[in-house]
Amino acid sequence: MSEIVNEINELKARRNAVILAHNYQRAEVQAIADFTGDSLELARRATQVDADVIVFCGVYFMAETAAILNPAKTVLIPDASAGCPMADMITGTQLRELKSRHPDALAVCYVNSTADVKAECDICVTSGNAEKVMASLPKGREVIFVPDQHLGGYIADRLGEKYILWPGYCPTHARLTANRIKAAREAHPGAPVLVHPECPADVRAVADACLSTGGMCAYARESSAKEIIVGTEVGILHRLRTENPGKTFWPVDDSTLCPNMKKTTLENLRDCLRDMTPRVTVEPEIARRAKRAIDAMLEVK
Ligand code: 13P
Ligand code: SF4
Repeated sequence: MSEIVNEINELKARRNAVILAHNYQRAEVQAIADFTGDSLELARRATQVDADVIVFCGVYFMAETAAILNPAKTVLIPDASAGCPMADMITGTQLRELKSRHPDALAVCYVNSTADVKAECDICVTSGNAEKVMASLPKGREVIFVPDQHLGGYIADRLGEKYILWPGYCPTHARLTANRIKAAREAHPGAPVLVHPECPADVRAVADACLSTGGMCAYARESSAKEIIVGTEVGILHRLRTENPGKTFWPVDDSTLCPNMKKTTLENLRDCLRDMTPRVTVEPEIARRAKRAIDAMLEVK
């Protein structure tokens, strides 16, 4: 075992810490984590942590969600500048203004949003439960969906609904185009194509399945296909390949990379456990209101 891996494991034991990592993290970070998952799995896991410290290897909104769910624990993020550009495409003020123009609407946010935005919402969704959560909403009410126009549009189409969509998007998934999917299919004939619901509609239309990163892991496990084309951030290839050694996974495009997800390294993970900083905290009143929206989501079975 390398020296830095030993150091992290020693610090982890000394701090009574748990390391949670998103599926897009670097391979070596996923390898040292206690649990790797998609946003929904990580939020659920964050409610079951029996440790004093949570080190969240992901982007800021994910660590913030863990902090909201665990006000009594210390939540650390190895690089506090690891934001999600889509989450930053709407502020609480902008959402309040939109709500004032639709006073009877329900407000729903993708979990890729700031605590301020969550505090303004009735319920959250992740890409793994969006269809189920949106189907559970009372019928006949206007619905505001922020910030991801693509996830919102996808679920609206699936359920035959119309939502008031905010024009946010993921710059990483915006790199995937229908032409790139076509080229990947030509290069690997017969392999099913999986894409993430953050992809634009024309990309989703030419895929075989549209899934959260956790959904992609389940698809890969259960499918009899020996080769699968993966249309999402390339960090997930590590987990897909590790869990399915007999299968081959092809990225649609090697350049589908989220720079913020790659800010976590073994070095800054070690440093944050050693120095107990940067800490992720949420102002208590915002956290209380945001927690209602997250809890409402976690209660949908
Ligand atoms: P998942 O919840 O599917 O892992 O997605 C999180 C995310 O940020 C995708 O860009
Ligand atoms: Fe945000 Fe996109 Fe990165 Fe996910 S992949 S964290 S949505 S920028």
